[in-house]
Parts: sequence; C-alpha cells; structure tokens
Amino acid sequence: MKPLRKIIFPAAGSGTRFLPATKATPKEMLTIVDKPLIQYGVEEALAAGMDQIIMITGRGKRSVEDHFDVSVGLELTLQQAGKDKLYNIVSRVSNMAEVIYVRQKRALGLGHAVLCADHWINDEPFGVSLADELIINEKPAMRQLAEVYEQTGCSVIGLIEVPEEQIHKYGIVAYVEENGLMRLTDMVEKPSAKDAPSNLAMMGRYVFTPRLMELLHDVKPGRGNEIQLTDAIAMLAREEPVYGVRLQGQRFDAGSPEGFLLANAILGMQHEEYGPSLRKALKEYL
Ligand code: UTP
Repeated sequence: MKPLRKIIFPAAGSGTRFLPATKATPKEMLTIVDKPLIQYGVEEALAAGMDQIIMITGRGKRSVEDHFDVSVGLELTLQQAGKDKLYNIVSRVSNMAEVIYVRQKRALGLGHAVLCADHWINDEPFGVSLADELIINEKPAMRQLAEVYEQTGCSVIGLIEVPEEQIHKYGIVAYVEENGLMRLTDMVEKPSAKDAPSNLAMMGRYVFTPRLMELLHDVKPGRGNEIQLTDAIAMLAREEPVYGVRLQGQRFDAGSPEGFLLANAILGMQHEEYGPSLRKALKEYL
C-alpha cells in the first residue's frame, strides 16, 4: 500500500456568505482566535503525516501564499527588536510545510477544484481537506481517516451526524456495516430530510485512492452547474470499497458566519492564554 503523503486544500471558493469580510480577504485567512483557518487545516494534515500540500487557489488568494512564505523583512525586524516569541511564531509558519499552489481559474465546483491537482497526484493516495470545516480533537481528524486507510488501503470519508433540519445543507451517505467498518454505498448532495438515506453528512475530510481522480474526469456538471465531488465519490463507491468514519472532536462550520463566531467564542474561552480573562470579561459583560 502506498503511504499517504499528499493532501489537497481546495481554497478557491468565493466565500459569498462572508461578504463584505471576504471582498478583499480570502475566507481561509479569517482568523479563529489567533491564527487563520487555513493554518488549522495545514497543522492538522501535518500531524497526520501528510506533508505534501497542494493548495487550490484563485483570484484574490495571494495572502494565503504569503502566509506560508518566508517574510524576510518581518522576521529580521522581530529578531532585531528581541521579540523572540513572535519571531518563533512567524518563522514556524514559514517553515511549516512545502506547499504547491495550483490556480483554479474559474470556480466550477469542489470536484473541479480537486481535479486541478490531478497533475501532482501521480497515482498516489491523497487527502482532501476543507479548512472551513474546523474539527478540533487530540487525535486530528485527518489522522482518524488515515488510520482506516492504513488498515484497508481504501478511500475513507469523515462523517458527522447532523440534525434533521440541517440535512438539506450536506452530502448525505447511505451505508452498510462491514467487518466493524461503515461501508458507504451511496451519497446524495443536499437531499431533503425525507429523501435522505441517513443523517450522516460528509464533513470536509476525505482520503481517496488515485482512482477518484480518474473518475472526476468523467463527472458532468450537476447541481448548480458545478462539477460535484460527491458525484465522483458515488461512482467510486460502486467500483471499490469506500469507508466512512464518524469523526471525533469539536466541529465548527466556520464557513458560515454563525459557526465562525461560535468557533471564536468557544475556542477563545478554551485558549490557554486568553481563555481565563475572556471568560471573566464575558461574565461581566453579559
Ligand atoms: P463552499 O461551498 O463553502 O463555497 O466551498 P465558497 O465559495 O467557499 O463559500 P460560499 O458558499 O460562497 O460562502 C467548499 C470548499 O470548496 C472550495 C471552497 O474554497 C471551500 O473550501 N471550492 C469550492 C473551490 O476551491 N472551488 C470551487 O469552485 C468551489
């Protein structure tokens, strides 16, 4: 079985739900407590042993590239000013990982964004992570998936139970139990609650065999005239086993303003340095 080293971060969406915040700032660069969303995703991937990072970007996403690049001037200024703690934080980000950037020229959907990385996959397994689904856990979400990949050599999808009134917002799976694992048999993009095969939603964490990439070439534009990743996963599940994993951890839909605010509130209050004073201030304020 080939080791899992590659991971794709689709980050070329337009982030309309966050306008006007995302007019000139990419959604991925919005901060949760003290670092941008995309950094949480990259740290999670690295902790899962996936260190070949392919970022799919588009117009207006330069700051994502700058964030992971060396900032010689800033690092020098911090060093000269003796601000060692800040220097270490900044240089750690620039040395965190080797990142390849691929431009998605038109936002033709998540499936199309993944397909843009085709050239870099070279017949290897790969992860896909949507950084605006923030999942915080001691065992990182991507590691939870990687363990099932290492056990089976098959594709694995991260799942979370969603309440009935939210089913229409997600890709929902059908499954059967198989040797203690959940084998996915079908997936439907944004069904109504009454047509949904379960209440388990695909939650922005995936590991795929390279076959997924081949199938993506055959996917025709579907809902919203976009190339849907879900359609390719459904095709894959008809050809070879695709397993589901119930993700453990605190999950925030940081791609929506409500989920983003909640993530900042909860993770802010849990933060080692800022938590105690924030909790105290909120108590006085409310
Ligand atoms: P979303 O559905 O959240 O879309 O995409 P969006 O454009 O980012 O945000 P809204 O809905 O307009 O507010 C899910 C993920 O897929 C990426 C996005 O960047 C996000 O990480 N994506 C989506 C692409 O990279 N390219 C696309 O064409 C579509």
